[in-house]
Amino acid sequence: MSIDSAGTSVAERVRAVIEAHKGDRGALLPILHGIQAEFGYVDPEVVPVLANELNMSRADVHGVITFYSDFRSEPAGTTTVKLCRAEACQSVGAEQLVADAEQVFGVKLGQTTPDGSVTLGQVFCLGNCALGPAAQINGRMYGRMDRSRLVELLVRAEGGESA
Ligand code: FES
Repeated sequence: MSIDSAGTSVAERVRAVIEAHKGDRGALLPILHGIQAEFGYVDPEVVPVLANELNMSRADVHGVITFYSDFRSEPAGTTTVKLCRAEACQSVGAEQLVADAEQVFGVKLGQTTPDGSVTLGQVFCLGNCALGPAAQINGRMYGRMDRSRLVELLVRAEGGESA
């Protein structure tokens, strides 16, 4: 693992997160959240480190990372779009919106566009069910989302306006 601009090795930062949570019950999840908070994603390189420190198999660690859609294995794009796929939003067109978004950005859910501008993700209920399909763009909530509104909001976000 490499050295960051502050001169701290990435391995040292990973170990600090592990040490902070090692005694916790079910330590893997808080450690993964800590690593994602520290680096913005969970680099696949940390899997063997975690497996060794927590006395787990690499496959088990990898399985937990891939099971939870909140964990990313690569840095997020400049703009993060999360589309709600829970029942209420599905009943008003969420799946069509997902298909539209995948077509517009040329990536699947969980992926980032090659230019690093957009990460497309999913979420299961944002508590905005009455205004579905609901979406979150850079943490901000939007309702009654459709293809054209999504594109419009992203153009504004990329232009530096708050989406
Ligand atoms: S089901 Fe989409 S916000 Fe609740």
